[in-house]
Amino acid sequence: MKWENAPPVSDFLDIDKRHIWHPFTQHATERDPIVIARAKAASLFDEEGHEILDLISSWWTCIHGHAHPAIVETIAAQAATLEHVMFAGFTHPPAAKLAKALTDVLPGDLNRVFFSDNGSTAVEVAAKLAYQYHRNKGDTARSEFIAFEGGYHGDTLGAMSLGRGSSFFTLFEGLMCRVHPVPYAPTWDGDNAIEQREQDALKALDATLEAHGSKAAALVIEPLMQGAGGIRFCRPEFLRGVAQRARDAGLLVIFDEVATGFGRTGALFACEKAKLVPDVICLSKGLTAGALPMSVTVARDDVYDAFLSDTFDTALAHGHSFTANPLACAVALKSLALFDEENTLARVAAIEARHREQVGLLKQHPRAERPRAMGSMLAFEIAGSEGHYKTADGERLRDWYLNNGLNIRPLGPTVYLMPPYCITDDELTRAYAGLIEGLDTL
Ligand SMILES: Cc1ncc(COP(=O)(O)O)c(C=O)c1O
Repeated sequence: MKWENAPPVSDFLDIDKRHIWHPFTQHATERDPIVIARAKAASLFDEEGHEILDLISSWWTCIHGHAHPAIVETIAAQAATLEHVMFAGFTHPPAAKLAKALTDVLPGDLNRVFFSDNGSTAVEVAAKLAYQYHRNKGDTARSEFIAFEGGYHGDTLGAMSLGRGSSFFTLFEGLMCRVHPVPYAPTWDGDNAIEQREQDALKALDATLEAHGSKAAALVIEPLMQGAGGIRFCRPEFLRGVAQRARDAGLLVIFDEVATGFGRTGALFACEKAKLVPDVICLSKGLTAGALPMSVTVARDDVYDAFLSDTFDTALAHGHSFTANPLACAVALKSLALFDEENTLARVAAIEARHREQVGLLKQHPRAERPRAMGSMLAFEIAGSEGHYKTADGERLRDWYLNNGLNIRPLGPTVYLMPPYCITDDELTRAYAGLIEGLDTL
């Protein structure tokens, strides 16, 4: 299936090219976007009906697949009842039910849900909250943060600062708040140097805490999997070592589960898989199954308690026009219910088993390095390919995959699959065959 020679069906592309500024896009060199007319389950369809398998769940969001009938019905029913109401001084059933459902499935006493609109704002809220938490408790020295090399937390100013170790945002360093990046300890199948790498990383964390710990409000980490930094997995042992050290130094521990939340790692949350309860957790993407934008920042009881007093000064001065939008809350509630109704985590386990077979095959491939799988994620690096975010090999592969009906978008040298959990066995077989065929063209 070739896209280049397909005649235009409408003039949407022309209008797009005249008027739209796309995210993370160099418009001077980027190929034309594909006009998507509809989507169903794991597939996107262009205006002529050509199918593209959405193997990265549209930026990791649509966990149950596109246009799931239960989600569609939920949106329609909620829209007919209450589409929106401001969220200061008012509340509504979808928000209350969702907050209850989320705090029931989250571990420990993560009981206080603050709503915002996307992954970046969830992290922004977490950072502000951590900073103010210490001030409210009388410690005004803690205004810095510790985060990880290769970490990505979004692109608002605070979130970007926490992701400064990823080199996505070097240009904006002048605008950033104070963040100390520390080494991460990535691992993969057959990695026999992981223990040493973890020890070195923990030693570096100790040194950073020694130097800056008394000035730091929180440590922020993507637990078990760094996403945009290259689908880099770490072991629960490493995460536990990190969390313990941060807590001992008086920092809050923030888990950014914007990407890992809602089943990606095989458990509902990565913190659950690692048997840890962070002080604050950030969730988005899968929260609303990719249907509507929303996020939550959930805090433990004692964090929330530090904001209570008889003056507004200790309250969290943050909020958005669309905070806790009822449509998005209703969708999130339905999406969570689908995990039980459709036994979704069993499906993720089945995907992981299929991915593991591929890891075995990829180990034999001369152009694949460090193959790895966790939950619904399969990843490897292109051997001999260096660079960050956009690389020549990665871009060539992305075009090849798109031209062959597969939405696979390498992150620099890292090629990965993160399909919707509804993907069928036949579709997975097609995805793996295409993955290798594309790699063979390099
Ligand atoms: C771990 C993590 N945190 C935060 C974000 C930012 O989310 P958003 O793009 O919705 O602002 C992302 C986005 O990819 C992410 O992967």
